[in-house]
Amino acid sequence: MTLERTFSIIKPDATRRNLTGQINARLESAGLRIVAQKRKYLSEKEAKAFYAVHQERPFFDDLVAFMTSGPVVLQVLEGTNAVLVNREVMGATNPADAAKGTIRQEFAESIEANSVHGSDSPENAAIEISYFFAGCEITE
Ligand code: CMP
Repeated sequence: MTLERTFSIIKPDATRRNLTGQINARLESAGLRIVAQKRKYLSEKEAKAFYAVHQERPFFDDLVAFMTSGPVVLQVLEGTNAVLVNREVMGATNPADAAKGTIRQEFAESIEANSVHGSDSPENAAIEISYFFAGCEITE
């Protein structure tokens, strides 16, 4: 049992449909605590840098366009095994493959407009959190 932090984004398809409260209720019910949060538009530069690992993929330009198309909610979640718990609550990347009752199965519009992002490892969580939050912006 490890107390961990993970990075979460509520994506533009979900903010557009006013789903931030419903999504965060699910994360909180799963035992995750929102210890930092901000709502903003990502710049093209921020979206490209955040998803740089995907820059050679055919969907990269569309992904950047989508992620800058509306406001996002950037947040840090804390809890026991937070990375894994968040990924379980989110469900598979493609909503067609997501388990029943997961956020993506219930809310995602497509593999691209899939409502939420969550870090895939504690190492990447630390990198992603530090990209958007200073240490003094994270509290208990
Ligand atoms: P996310 O977990 O934020 O990580 C990369 C994102 O790329 C993914 O969610 C999707 O929003 C987006 N994406 C678009 N097309 C694909 C695809 N074919 N495979 C994987 N991810 C995709």
